[in-house]
Order: sequence, then C-alpha cells, then structure tokens
Amino acid sequence: MLEQAEKIIKDAQERIAAAGNLQALEAIRVEFLGRQGKITGLLRGLGKLPAEERPAAGEAANRARTAIEAALSSRKEQLQAVGEKAQAEDIFDVTIPGRRPMIGHQHPLTQVREEICNIFIGLGFEVVEGPEVETLYYGFEALNYPPDHPAIDETDTYYVTDNVLLRSQTSSVQVREMEKRAPAPSRLVVPGRVYRRENVTMTHSDTFYQLEGLLVDKGINLGHLKGILESFAIQYYGPQTRVRIRPDFFPFVEPGGDFSIDCSFCKGQGCKFCKDSGWVELGGCGMVHPNVLRAGGYDPEEVTGFAFGVGIDRLTQRRFSIDHIRLLYENDMRFLAQF
Ligand code: PHE
Repeated sequence: MLEQAEKIIKDAQERIAAAGNLQALEAIRVEFLGRQGKITGLLRGLGKLPAEERPAAGEAANRARTAIEAALSSRKEQLQAVGEKAQAEDIFDVTIPGRRPMIGHQHPLTQVREEICNIFIGLGFEVVEGPEVETLYYGFEALNYPPDHPAIDETDTYYVTDNVLLRSQTSSVQVREMEKRAPAPSRLVVPGRVYRRENVTMTHSDTFYQLEGLLVDKGINLGHLKGILESFAIQYYGPQTRVRIRPDFFPFVEPGGDFSIDCSFCKGQGCKFCKDSGWVELGGCGMVHPNVLRAGGYDPEEVTGFAFGVGIDRLTQRRFSIDHIRLLYENDMRFLAQF
C-alpha cells in the first residue's frame, strides 16, 4: 500500500510535468483525484486493511493527494503564464498571422541627395566628399576670404581649435580637390554636411546639407554655368522650369550670383510659397576667382571654372512640403515613415 502510494505520486508528477495544456492537466486531475481516481481508490481500499495498518496507509494516501494537488496547481500556473491563446491552441498556433518586421527606407534628405547626385552624374560630374572637420586654410583662406571677414568669426563658425573648424560650406572641398587634379580638368559635385553657428528657425538649422558643384577647364564661361543649372533644374523640377541668376557676392567667385527657379506653385505669378516674388532661391554660384584657381594649382590664364552650391535641406523641404527644417533632424519615426 505504501509502495503503491509512492508509485502513484511519481507517475502523477511525471504526467503533470508533461501536460501541454489545461485540458490535459484536467484529465490528469480526474484520473488521479476524481471520483473514480487512483487516490480515491486507495482511500476506499483502506477499510479492507487490518486495523493496525490503517493509520499509516491513510496518511500515505493523504500525502499522495496533497503532493498531486500541489503539482497540479503549480503546473496550472505555468501553463496560464504561457498565455490564454497558447493554452487553448495547444501552445503553438500556426494560423496566427505573423508580425511583420519594420522595413526601413532612406531618410528624405538622403533620397533627395541621391537624386541630385544622379542628375549630375548624368551630366558628366564625379561625386566626391570631403572632411566635415576642416582647417581654416581650406575652409576660408584658400577661398579668398580676407582675414577679417565676419563669416570666419567664432560668432558664425564652430571652432575645434584656432585653426580647425567645422566647415560652414562645402566650398571648403573646392581647393582640396583642385589640388589633386590640376592641371587636368576638375568636374565634380560634393554633397555633405555643414555647420553654422545659427539659431534654429523654420528654414535654418545650425547643421544642414549642401551640394557643391565645381567645373574647371579651358574656356569655361558663365553660359556653361547657366546651362548646367538649367539642365539640373529641368531634370529635377520638370521641363518647363526656368532658372534665373542674379548678381551676389561670395569671396571665392567673380562674378558671383545667386540662382533661383520659377515657383512651381504659382508659375511665377507670386504666391505665399515664393513670398510673392515668383522665384525660389536654390543657392549661390559664380565663376571661380583667379586666387582660388591659383590656390588649387591652376593657372588662371590657362583655365577658368564655375562653382555653385545648393542647400539640400531646402530642396527636400520643398519636395515633400516639410515646413520645419528641424523635423529632418529629430529622427522621429512617425514623421520619417511618411516619406
Ligand atoms: N558656399 C556658398 C554658401 O554656402 C554657396 C556658393 C557655392 C556660392 C559656390 C558660390 C559658389 O552660401
């Protein structure tokens, strides 16, 4: 009788541990503790035992019942923890729809940068990059900035040391790349991040992206510059797009200008997007200053060149109607997932 009780406990514990769901567990409970169950059978058999054996046998049967009840309830807790769904469906339900992993895509700034670069690759330009941490020399001096120019000042530019700064324009790559190529022609675009010590507004951030263009060769003139800007604008904005260049000043170009396209919303009539001017400014441009050509290792008597710079952020804001530039730098998935 005592041995029998031990065997029942062992048997029950093994079966309970192997029970995969609540139904199986309930069946085991009935099998051992139910009215026709094995423990109940044991208790019933007590009456047939000699009187002196009854107390020990009764105790053994009760111990077995307590042990089995404990095993049942702890296994029940475990199974419930696996989750209601899993219990009902035998742990693993192959019909539950899968969870799709989130699939990323390029940041809107990257999309626009790649599109612009591809247009210039099609126009025969090479894509190169340069350092964001730059020397005073390539950042300003080689670009014909006089030493007292306000843009050089710490109030406008972030400095790492007296002579090392975070570049404030991709024009800093012009002389670096000319040095590598002169006297052979240079024909390149340079996308990259720039930094300026500025307050953040709807359209200005202290970090943003530019794309620099540079073409140096024999006989290059302003007409080539306008032609290239127009080819770009037509491919990026569509065949009707017109380009306007107006005089402007940058130390590293002469003559210098800013260039605009006609407003795509009002077609030059004037609206709130172009501030009623009919034109939207895209960037600066001009003919490379002889001093800059010289710094790059070219002879300004032999070659001429043009340069231009566009703000990638501004193109991106317009392309996707993004009113605040800060949205491009917050990495908020709710925002980015829309593009
Ligand atoms: N670097 C100028 C800027 O950041 C733009 C520019 C590039 C102007 C090349 C002329 C030629 O505003």
